[in-house]
Amino acid sequence: MIDQETRTVSNHWQSPLGFVAAAAGSAVGLGNIWKFPYMTGQNGGGTFVLFYLLSIVMLGFPIMVAEVMVGKISQSSPVRAYSRLSNHSRLWQALGFVGVMTGFIILSYYSVVGGWTLHYLFLSVARELPQDSQPQAYADLFGSLYQSVRLNIWWHSVFMGITILIVLRGVRSGIEWVGKWGMLALLVLLVGLAIYSSTLPGFSTALEFVFGHSENFTWTSALEALGHAFFSLSLGMGAMLTYGSYLQRRDKVLTTSLAIAIADTFIAIGACLVLFPITFSVGLEPAAGPGLVFINIPLALLQLPFGYIGSILFFLLLSLAALTSAISLLEVPTAFLIDSLGWSRRLAATVCGGIIYLLGFPSAVSGGEGFWGEGLKQTLGMNWFDSADYLTTNWLLPLGGIGISLFVGWRITAEQRKTELGSIPWLYSILVLLLRWFVPIAIVFVMLHALKVL
Ligand code: PFF
Repeated sequence: MIDQETRTVSNHWQSPLGFVAAAAGSAVGLGNIWKFPYMTGQNGGGTFVLFYLLSIVMLGFPIMVAEVMVGKISQSSPVRAYSRLSNHSRLWQALGFVGVMTGFIILSYYSVVGGWTLHYLFLSVARELPQDSQPQAYADLFGSLYQSVRLNIWWHSVFMGITILIVLRGVRSGIEWVGKWGMLALLVLLVGLAIYSSTLPGFSTALEFVFGHSENFTWTSALEALGHAFFSLSLGMGAMLTYGSYLQRRDKVLTTSLAIAIADTFIAIGACLVLFPITFSVGLEPAAGPGLVFINIPLALLQLPFGYIGSILFFLLLSLAALTSAISLLEVPTAFLIDSLGWSRRLAATVCGGIIYLLGFPSAVSGGEGFWGEGLKQTLGMNWFDSADYLTTNWLLPLGGIGISLFVGWRITAEQRKTELGSIPWLYSILVLLLRWFVPIAIVFVMLHALKVL
């Protein structure tokens, strides 16, 4: 049995609710509000959403349970967790290490988008958003930000700076506090916006688009939906494992994991129900891509009586959502260095944050004309930013998901599994079956199809 006292009191969550809020803060982020709606738009709607929901239920939830559980029983960050529970097997340690590296890559480009949200927050406060009812003005504004090397680097620096400062403060007063308040505010605003969107003329078209049947769904879309389920729930790289390691023995793995998965899914679907009615009402294209949220939301909000305050609130919350996820991305390598090399939190967070910051530069200049942008796009078909996103979301996170499901399904002892998950016997049997067989086989199956091997 692993010694629970390896973490001090301040290294545990204050309450299970604090854990759920922080973990939901990690899960709910740009993935839900920025990425999921535009991916749904690009992949034709209904079938993509259905496949995404299926992935959440059949793969995401079991893996969430597995990660939180491994964290809780090992009381360690990924590499040490795998090592402790596998009698120091090098193979399993390597899996934890790949997760840490994945976190580095994701945060490096995630921070660039986090920077965009800060830029829009700044424009909202300074009343510099176009006071125009033409979508083109907003599309041009986003286009000029996307291409600007100077703005991207500046806001990426600010975003990474804030993320590092919060992680420096530690589990309770940094991560848990920001998670709790940020999530609450986000929920209130999203419900408010959804009520507004439901009064728009495009609402029924939007419902049909999000929940109806769609035409152009391919195996590549399936891989994207599956990969995005991992991205959105923060799975496959040890973020939930790390947060789970701050749980105490009395905390429940099953109920907390369920709450996190439900909150995340609810907000992703909610974001679609806010964005698409606006999109259809003003006659915009649902497949507008990464600019969707930055074009539609200010355009719609500024037509409303309290649009000035509304757009400030929206971008404040989008920045907060991005920040609570970024914190979890930085916490994984930070916890790794604290646990494995005995570094202080201050040193670990600063060094990891610094490296990720530098790694973000190629992403920050990806929208420009240079080598990292247009140059790579011409040779690879994707710029650096898109390649980093594609590699991590579609491949590294699902592969990490296979790893953790095999680990919990086959490697740890039945006693360890039963202590944490055995309270409901039928659910326990289903979870073990899913983790042992269904999850790994389904992921490999979709990957092979997407590669056109099958
Ligand atoms: N789940 C976050 C989002 O949806 O924006 C992104 C993310 C955070 C991915 C943490 C992976 C992770 F470990």
